Amino acid sequence: MSNIVVVGAQWGDEGKGKVIDILAENFDYVVRYQGGNNAGHTVVIGDEKFILHLIPSGILHKKKICVIGNGVVINPKALIEEIDKLESEGISIKGRLFISENAHLIFPYHKTIDELKEIKKGKSKIGTTKKGIGPCYADKVSRSGIRVMDLLNDKIFEEKLKNNIEEKNKILKTLYNFEGFSFDKIRDEYLGLRQRIKGFACNTALLLNKAMKEKKSILFEGAQGTLLDLEYGTYPFVTSSNVTAGGACTGTGIGPTKLDKIIGVVKAYTTRVGEGPFPTEFSKDMMERIRTKGCEFGATTGRPRRCGWFDACVVRQSVMINGMSEIVVTKLDVLDELKRIKICTAYKYKGKLYEHLTGDIEMLNNCEPVYEEVDGWVEDTTGITSFQKLPKNAKNYLKKIQKIVDTKIILISVGSKRKQTITVE
Ligand code: GDP
Ligand code: IMO
Ligand code: MG
Repeated sequence: MSNIVVVGAQWGDEGKGKVIDILAENFDYVVRYQGGNNAGHTVVIGDEKFILHLIPSGILHKKKICVIGNGVVINPKALIEEIDKLESEGISIKGRLFISENAHLIFPYHKTIDELKEIKKGKSKIGTTKKGIGPCYADKVSRSGIRVMDLLNDKIFEEKLKNNIEEKNKILKTLYNFEGFSFDKIRDEYLGLRQRIKGFACNTALLLNKAMKEKKSILFEGAQGTLLDLEYGTYPFVTSSNVTAGGACTGTGIGPTKLDKIIGVVKAYTTRVGEGPFPTEFSKDMMERIRTKGCEFGATTGRPRRCGWFDACVVRQSVMINGMSEIVVTKLDVLDELKRIKICTAYKYKGKLYEHLTGDIEMLNNCEPVYEEVDGWVEDTTGITSFQKLPKNAKNYLKKIQKIVDTKIILISVGSKRKQTITVE
């Protein structure tokens, strides 16, 4: 088995957790390369539901090695909580989890800045998860961030933390009239957390490259979705990391020539949590109906997700930017009861047709989606296990999507359980 990247093709929550869990069986390593505990990846095994935030979803397979790469931002407290929770559920972590010593750490001031910035933005807020993701990446880029390896060195850690707290306290006081953070308190807390995480830290780029030399296979688990990517998403309504397949290289230390395939995860409709343009967003009644049927509530924040029709402009953009050759379509069952289904094939704006997304928020907020309407199948698909047995109109819907976004559907998901998965021959 080769090295494969799995990337969300919309605005996140496409069902990547379930897809990773299905694919992980055939890989030796499962690796997160970006994002942080803003992610919420759900895996359902039997009657048990697991929500992973930082740890790769492959951890639920007993023999898989899981890696948190250098491109991820780690809140050590959240990581330890996740480890403890998994262990209490009978999942062994020791010897199976490695975290990059180059990964940057999230501190309490990152969370506070995230929250206060959002409040200050008022109506123009991004709707972040308030986990401190953006401010942590900002420190990384401005070269003042604190990495896992810095935490392991008393002198460097104290020096860097002191400088950061001094700077942040000034910013917090001046811009937000916030009283600030105590150096001693954060230092003590993080030195305590260090005891728990130091055993997992290593040079993961070396680990993964050695593994490849030994012909081990690697599954890269993307978080968020391509339209939340810092470069190609609906900026500024994006997250702060490189979500796209390219991020799998920079976020782990693996050369681009080592990636064999990029698989996109696509929901059969579209959802988005947080603010920002959403051309195919439903109006009130349909929103309620699909949100309820699809249980569209955030796995990290519990916020209701905004829902809308399938948007081919969004997925086309993802296929192109990531070089996706294959896609998995999830949550087909959520459309089971609909008599008519719409697919957005283009946007109309100022008299012109656009088939691809642009970074122009003004246009995305004001364009008119061009829809193609198809008949629904009005039949329960949740027990179907082969493509041939799907209702005719469901097959037509999938074939249409495949054609419009010019890629190949390899798997279809019709429920959250492992067995509710159809392999397309
Ligand atoms: P991720 O962030 O991409 O991993 O997705 P989330 O876990 O945040 O959200 C996907 C939700 O849909 C989870 O609750 C899954 O259990 C659920 N899910 C995944 N695939 C299917 C499916 O085919 N049908 C239905 N009804 N639910 C699904
Ligand atoms: P998974 O991996 C859906 C969204 C937030 C907000 C924007 C920026 O489960 O698909 P951030 O806290 O990252 O600065 O917030 O990005 N967002 C997600 N939306 N799924 C996610 O992850 C998300 N992670 C961040 O709602 O709009
Ligand atoms: Mg999610």
